[in-house]
Amino acid sequence: MRRGESKAATRGANRSSSSSWKSRYMGYGLVVGFVLILVYLMVKAQFSNSPNAYLGPVTTSKTESVPATTYQGNHASQEDGTRELEERHRKEVASTHTERLRGQRQEKNDESEQQRTEKIPMDEQFGNDRDSDYWQERRQSEKKDTVEFSEFGGGTDDFNNVAHTKPICDTSFGKYDICVLDGDARAQGGAAGAATVTLVSPRAAPREWKIKPYSRKYLDGLKAVTVKSVPNPEFAPQCTTRLNVPAMVIELGGLTGNYWHDFTDVLIPLFIGARRFGGEVQLLVVNLLPFWVDKYRRIFSQISRHEIIDLEKDDHGVVRCYPHVVVGYGSRKEFTIDPSLDDTGGGYTMVNFTEFLRHSYSLPRDRPIKLNSNQGAQPPRPRMMILERTNSRKLMNLPEVVAAAQAVGFEVTIAGRPRSSYDEFAREVNSFDVMVGVHGAGLTNCVFLPTGAVLLQIVPYGRLEDIAHTDFGEPARDMGLRYVEYAIEADESSLMDVFGKDHPMIKDPVAVHLSGWGNVAEWYLGKQDVRVNIQRFRPFLMQVLEHLQ
Ligand SMILES: *[C@@H]1O[C@H](CO)[C@@H](O)[C@H](O)[C@H]1NC(C)=O
Repeated sequence: MRRGESKAATRGANRSSSSSWKSRYMGYGLVVGFVLILVYLMVKAQFSNSPNAYLGPVTTSKTESVPATTYQGNHASQEDGTRELEERHRKEVASTHTERLRGQRQEKNDESEQQRTEKIPMDEQFGNDRDSDYWQERRQSEKKDTVEFSEFGGGTDDFNNVAHTKPICDTSFGKYDICVLDGDARAQGGAAGAATVTLVSPRAAPREWKIKPYSRKYLDGLKAVTVKSVPNPEFAPQCTTRLNVPAMVIELGGLTGNYWHDFTDVLIPLFIGARRFGGEVQLLVVNLLPFWVDKYRRIFSQISRHEIIDLEKDDHGVVRCYPHVVVGYGSRKEFTIDPSLDDTGGGYTMVNFTEFLRHSYSLPRDRPIKLNSNQGAQPPRPRMMILERTNSRKLMNLPEVVAAAQAVGFEVTIAGRPRSSYDEFAREVNSFDVMVGVHGAGLTNCVFLPTGAVLLQIVPYGRLEDIAHTDFGEPARDMGLRYVEYAIEADESSLMDVFGKDHPMIKDPVAVHLSGWGNVAEWYLGKQDVRVNIQRFRPFLMQVLEHLQ
């Protein structure tokens, strides 16, 4: 902040000192006035930032409680990588409370911002190909503002505007930062933290942030982007290309590569941030993983009709200018959208996300089978997909489970690692009415089920219900799926064979959790298989059937 201001003051001084005595006198007057205004602005800015300052300690303690080093590991495994996933939970469950508080507080802070953005006809942008007209208009009005500002030499009206302008970056969330640059925004690429996005606005107090534009900002190995606001174009790089649509600066990397994290950390946040633009948005990507983007190309091509820019490899000297740039993305809850907390620019829900996926992958089924008690002699059999895990948390008596499901009336398919292409696999998943699986990343595939289908999650032994709810139970309900949960008992766990019924691992899972994450990750999640008690399981299968009535 200070650097920009003193620069501005110096330039003003230089200009005035090169004139005649009279104008020099006036010039000094202007400089003194300008400096006074800046001082006032700085003081005001401090006050307007005070909510953030107040939140500071909370954020700090959160960051400290989330050491990111442990997140490294197997990022490539689609089936799993669950260790990091659950590691994350251990850390984040503790901070859920503060996050919630912060969320509420944030909503209060956002009120004025909301009033400001209400003027923007966001709803006109849904799937509207003529968005660019709107952005054009907006930029022209920005230009007009700029002219007026310089005409009045920064008169008190504008000056009050500055004082009341919210900072363009909000760094108060525990999980992610987000900046909104509205008006004349200029992006310049560069490797390892050199990328910069600059907002030119006489109404924004000069300031600079280092933003990691990822949905879990506390992770190791993320790269920062510099975001700054400057009062006039002299302090910004000259535009070399202009695109008259918004841009979004996002980072991949992080835990990308774990199937659940692909959706939770990137694809859902991307939908939250970018769907509102109806495809008319350019993605500027840090840590671009081309193979990964290629896997989800159908989603990316629906999110943006424009070329994806690798911001780190952008040609030196290219300055990309946009009427609107958002830096950062994220969601407040795991693997879902909370429309009351996540600003989607149009009340999008998780149901809308799955509709969007069906559209992206041209999936034919919106609804599952409807079992009608008045069916004729040959009622159709609902199709059940049982996910097979191969490392830990295997279903030891899979054939028995299949037989039980068939006996109840399901047509059963066992799905292991997808052999077909991802697109074909999505299509296959969509053909089912029920998905069954032991807790793990494979359940992420439920996003392709038709709305109203059933997800049955088998929860391994060891007080894993909370994790199971957060990762899949609540998200499934938000997707409009029917959710059934089967939490196994000790004698259905392979750990019973390992430890015996008197061992604390079996007798006292709560104590195991309290003793630290190590045993939970190693045994409950890492070295446990499941032998479903068919007797006990059968009523749950009946419950699934009832949901399809
Ligand atoms: C989101 O989904 C709801 C329920 O299906 C629907 O009524 C609404 O129109 C959808 N919103 C958008 C923007 O597609």
